[in-house]
Amino acid sequence: MMRIAERAAVKVRELRDLSPWPRRRESEARPAPQRPESAAVSEADVLAALRPIIDPDFGKSIVDLGFVKSLAIEGGRVSFEIELTTPACPVKAEFEKAAHDRVLALPGVTDVAVRMTANTRGRRAASGAPKAEVLPGVKNVIAVASGKGGVGKSTTALNLALAFQRAGAQVGLMDADVYGPSLSLLTGVTGRPQVLAERRIVPHQGYGLKLMSMAFLVTDQSPVIWRGPMVHGLVRQFLTDVEWGDLDYLVVDMPPGTGDAALTLAQQAPLSGAVIVTTANELSLIDARKGLKMFEKVQVPVLGIVENMAYFTPPDLPDRRYYLFGKGGARRAAEELGVDFLAQVPFDPRIVEGSDAGRPILVDAPESEAARAFSEAAEKVVRKLAVLAAGAPGIADVDITWASS
Ligand SMILES: Nc1ncnc2c1ncn2[C@@H]1O[C@H](COP(=O)(O)OP(=O)(O)OP(=O)(O)O)[C@@H](O)[C@H]1O
Ligand SMILES: [Mg+2]
Repeated sequence: MMRIAERAAVKVRELRDLSPWPRRRESEARPAPQRPESAAVSEADVLAALRPIIDPDFGKSIVDLGFVKSLAIEGGRVSFEIELTTPACPVKAEFEKAAHDRVLALPGVTDVAVRMTANTRGRRAASGAPKAEVLPGVKNVIAVASGKGGVGKSTTALNLALAFQRAGAQVGLMDADVYGPSLSLLTGVTGRPQVLAERRIVPHQGYGLKLMSMAFLVTDQSPVIWRGPMVHGLVRQFLTDVEWGDLDYLVVDMPPGTGDAALTLAQQAPLSGAVIVTTANELSLIDARKGLKMFEKVQVPVLGIVENMAYFTPPDLPDRRYYLFGKGGARRAAEELGVDFLAQVPFDPRIVEGSDAGRPILVDAPESEAARAFSEAAEKVVRKLAVLAAGAPGIADVDITWASS
């Protein structure tokens, strides 16, 4: 005989079986389990997580730009590469962190490995057939020019080159100022370069840069008197006979002014763009305008204007700025000419001392306002070149923007 309690239980079960409602299974009471570990995350999930990361210069997602490469998923471990258009990309660290954090936040992801790589896009002036064979391994050739002498063209060329290099690029610096070569003095690098078979000249190395200058080839005693054809030959030799190898950027300290030597170089070198250095006084600005016109004539884009020796801050009056050549002239000239204003470099006595001692300010005092201004100009230049190389319309605001996910 069943006890009452047992009978009651049977009765309840019978009633439940007769119920018109589907019986609720135990498992349904619990929340549905996560997707099984093996199918934790798909390629599409990862790309969707990365899509809101927008490259500020192109105004497009890094996924749509094709920057995301070698995506591999093993269980919860995700690895991929982000290939930038320049190793000197100023938002590299932000991209890396955002990509890492966004993918790690996906359910099922336990581990994220992001590799940041770069394939520098190059842009070369279109005109002139022989240019194709000149500097085959060099992605971008940047001319640093000024209309007037003594405004800091060589100083700017060297510090821009160093800023590119410090940001992770392979960089060369060619001193094409055959009349007044100054690269030896500015870097402390001297001596005749090694010449290999077939007259291939090996550039010197200094501060991580490949360096070539007329100063390495002439002694202090030998007079530097060049006539037109010799200059042409020399410039061509620097472009064709020097083992520059693979470079992201070759910075060219241009011959002064807009004369023959400068024009020859602007025509012979496959220039990607030009940076004009000026002081803010009208005399210098008039010549800067001439320089700009020269590059326009040979269809080389002017990347912008650097105002050098803009102001002086005495060490004992750190809040003061004395504008040595007048205030705002260079910026106004840039606006009027429709080119970017890249930076305002202050006068810093350490530049004068460092120049004579072969110690560039970017190395000696990287935190100084002058060094930071050179770095700022360099950042704008690499961004502008990347955009030009892609044929994209224009440069976006400096800050990186995130689209809402
Ligand atoms: N921002 C600066 N602050 C202080 N001194 C500077 C600055 N920029 C350049 N100089 C100094 O001015 C002098 C001229 O600079 P630099 O040689 O770079 O000019 P340049 O335009 O190349 O001259 P050149 O026409 O003779 O080739 C150098 O003694 C240099 O150290
Ligand atoms: Mg010079």
